[in-house]
Amino acid sequence: MKFLGVDLGTSSVKIIMVDEEGKLLSSVSKEYPVSYPKNGWSEQNPEDWWNGTKEGIRELMEKSKVSGEEVKGIGFSGQMHGLVILDKDNNVLRPAILWNDQRTQEECDYLNNEIGQEKISKYTGNKALTGFTAPKVLWVRKHEKEIFDKIAHILLPKDYIRFKLTGEFASEVSDASGTLFFDVENRQWSKEMMDILGIKEEQLPKMYESWEVTGKVTKEVAEYIGVSSETVVVGGGGDQAAGAIGTGTVDAGILSVALGTSGVVFASSDSYAVDDENTLHSFCHGNGKYHQMGVMLSAASSLKWWVEEINEDSKDFNKLLADAEKSTVGSNGVIFLPYLTGERTPYSDPNAKGVFFGLNITTKREDMTRAVLEGVAFGLRDSLEILKSLNVPIEEVRVSGGGAQSPLWKQILADVFNVKVSMINSKEGPAYGAAILAIVGCGVYPTVDEACKNLIKVTETVHPIAENVAKYEKPYEVYRKLYPALKDSFKAINNI
Ligand code: XUL
Repeated sequence: MKFLGVDLGTSSVKIIMVDEEGKLLSSVSKEYPVSYPKNGWSEQNPEDWWNGTKEGIRELMEKSKVSGEEVKGIGFSGQMHGLVILDKDNNVLRPAILWNDQRTQEECDYLNNEIGQEKISKYTGNKALTGFTAPKVLWVRKHEKEIFDKIAHILLPKDYIRFKLTGEFASEVSDASGTLFFDVENRQWSKEMMDILGIKEEQLPKMYESWEVTGKVTKEVAEYIGVSSETVVVGGGGDQAAGAIGTGTVDAGILSVALGTSGVVFASSDSYAVDDENTLHSFCHGNGKYHQMGVMLSAASSLKWWVEEINEDSKDFNKLLADAEKSTVGSNGVIFLPYLTGERTPYSDPNAKGVFFGLNITTKREDMTRAVLEGVAFGLRDSLEILKSLNVPIEEVRVSGGGAQSPLWKQILADVFNVKVSMINSKEGPAYGAAILAIVGCGVYPTVDEACKNLIKVTETVHPIAENVAKYEKPYEVYRKLYPALKDSFKAINNI
């Protein structure tokens, strides 16, 4: 038996094939463009996603030489929050508005301040953020009324691909959680939010759990991509939930930290929980439970900026990271705020900026490189502290993403968090989680948790060093004070 995991990302779609033991057999990626029609806007053409996915699966099937009948199931992972709208003939009405689009501040202010954050949180478990889907719906209603009036179907990005593959309008709880028109606690669309947005349930897809079968590949598509029309398609997950399943983060006590372009702290939890200020996202997990997460906008991208833009003469990641080992715990008093593209958790502030603080005449490049790594770890610790305040148990961190390749960064994370940091046997991330959901949907394992226990193994563990843990307390305390002290100044320099 073979299974496909399709991860519909922002820059490309990645498709992997695994067997029922979770062994990776083959993979293919197809890129597509993002367009930025105005400053702060970010859009994609859903047809580009579909072309990439269908050509990608076809190529994967040809190169793997596996017969279509062997492919039993397909699972998804997808970039979250994007708005895809179709008319009554299932034509795409306008380019998809993506998760990183910032045009909806006014709509968020309306939802959080006029309707009121308390109500929105009661209905959805979250507050309005520019990235989420509901403010995008309000934006289309206000600025493109003639398009809004033609909407017959509202879909998330991966659910559009599902529709093209199966002809079914379906979604699942983990991705739906990021729309802000989903009642996370009760795992169903929110009637109150539909009223606020002026949309109807018949415009929304049918809801499933992430491992449940939502349909089969249509005969026509099956023939083209090289699978069988008996191949089932399961719900799948938003990229963070699928990524967490791909690292086995399905039990309370395990935290997943993704050190990718953005940085994510993700805690699986057995029950629904919301922090007082809605600082963390409170979403459904893909294993039937819940999760809370904090999202930092510039994690590994802070290091990329430091190496490729500021050290552009060398652009030498390895040398800069090796030199950073020579600096001290606490970077000789240098602190970096990683808010290069504003910040989501904990501040939801698009005006926040990057800062090097504490420079003096003895400061060296190696201190600044290390400060970048430490600053990202401090920013992630902000989310960890909120989780701790919710009494979320934290025994182990599973780290993934490009930044997880650096031994120094892993040690810094272990020391700043004071928790052991582990790596696992798969590097396929969300695509692997998507494939696991397909394996479960096809009945190989009874539950997602059971599948993760069998398929995912820890391969490396980095333990915190007590002396370093103590040394980080003071710089972290200073780090915490810097954003509130600089908040107004960040805004003031916007127009200079
Ligand atoms: C999650 C989030 C990102 C996007 C794009 O809240 O905004 O993970 O899904 O990857």
